Amino acid sequence: MAAQNGEAKRTKVPMRVLVTGGTGLVGQAIHRVVQEDPCEDEEWIFVSSKDADLTDPAATQALFERHQPTHVIHLAAMVGGLFRNLKYNLDFWRNNIRINDNVLHLAYENGVRKCVSCLSTCIFPDKTTYPIDETMVHNGPPHDSNFGYSYAKRMIDVQNRAYYVQHGCKFTSVIPTNVFGPHDNFNLEDGHVVPGLVHKVYTAKRDNKPLTVWGTGSPRRQFIYSYDLARLMVWVLKDYQEVDPIILSVGEEDEISIKECAELVVDAMDFKGEVIFDTTKSDGQFKKTASNAKLRKYLPDFRFTPIKQALKETCDWFTENYDTARK
Ligand SMILES: NC(=O)c1ccc[n+]([C@@H]2O[C@H](COP(=O)([O-])OP(=O)(O)OC[C@H]3O[C@@H](n4cnc5c(N)ncnc54)[C@H](OP(=O)(O)O)[C@@H]3O)[C@@H](O)[C@H]2O)c1
Repeated sequence: MAAQNGEAKRTKVPMRVLVTGGTGLVGQAIHRVVQEDPCEDEEWIFVSSKDADLTDPAATQALFERHQPTHVIHLAAMVGGLFRNLKYNLDFWRNNIRINDNVLHLAYENGVRKCVSCLSTCIFPDKTTYPIDETMVHNGPPHDSNFGYSYAKRMIDVQNRAYYVQHGCKFTSVIPTNVFGPHDNFNLEDGHVVPGLVHKVYTAKRDNKPLTVWGTGSPRRQFIYSYDLARLMVWVLKDYQEVDPIILSVGEEDEISIKECAELVVDAMDFKGEVIFDTTKSDGQFKKTASNAKLRKYLPDFRFTPIKQALKETCDWFTENYDTARK
């Protein structure tokens, strides 16, 4: 996606934010949030792999030279569901290490004032106590299924600390729980829980067939709406001063079961057919409860969109954009 403002403004703009991964689920949500509340002295630039392949140092350097950002939100990553992770752990490791090293080092070389990168709650140690908090990222091996992705993500935190200690850089990271919203990847084979359910309910309704949910429906998850995450990430960019990561999540009390989530999607789509839980399929981890106490210490009054409303908006978006949505 091209820069939003022209070359002429470049020298006058005090804050020029480069968003890598700007065409993805989270990037598109940040795009909408900053469009809804524009600031005159800010320029936001949203880029995708078509603007630069960030695994390539020369292409990354050219991107930074072209846009000369003062701030970076770094979202670009090789991401995927369980089966893609299981199959391509090496690719997840190598591609993400390259992308992150290129972006962080060019941010340093170009004097970027603040860089916010994205970790994930799925990179935490497999064997842990609950709730998970920010101090536990490096406490033990991640789950076997996605160790390539997880270790590459964890190294962002190591690099942030090293850039701070050696060069005083203000590079930090956020740790979102399961994100969902418009522009998600709704692929049935390889998507995440919510977009997978939305797509399944859509086709079950269209084809007048029962809905089959994989597993017992009892595992519990915290879901964050992409627009809430976007608003929080803009706050982190502007106001959060720590190098240590911060978990961006709804509270422990807002964790819901997959069954409850499926029922909300069924209601939102007005699906009247039969719902079957295929208990021969694996449930995955029962829970991964994360604490948002640190976030609440900073922003006690932040209001998350109620999950019912957020899921309804996501279902409506998918229905309206069925032909072009990522499936
Ligand atoms: N989705 C979740 O539930 C979740 C949860 C926790 C953390 N996160 C993290 O949040 C961040 C954003 O995730 P998302 O769900 O928004 O991902 P997404 O929708 O899959 O988008 C990924 C973005 O990264 C870009 N990208 C991928 N490989 C690239 C490369 N080699 N060079 C340049 N750009 C590249 C893609 O560009 P193209 O469009 O051109 O392919 C796209 O803009 C990621 O760092 C992810 O790890 C996501």
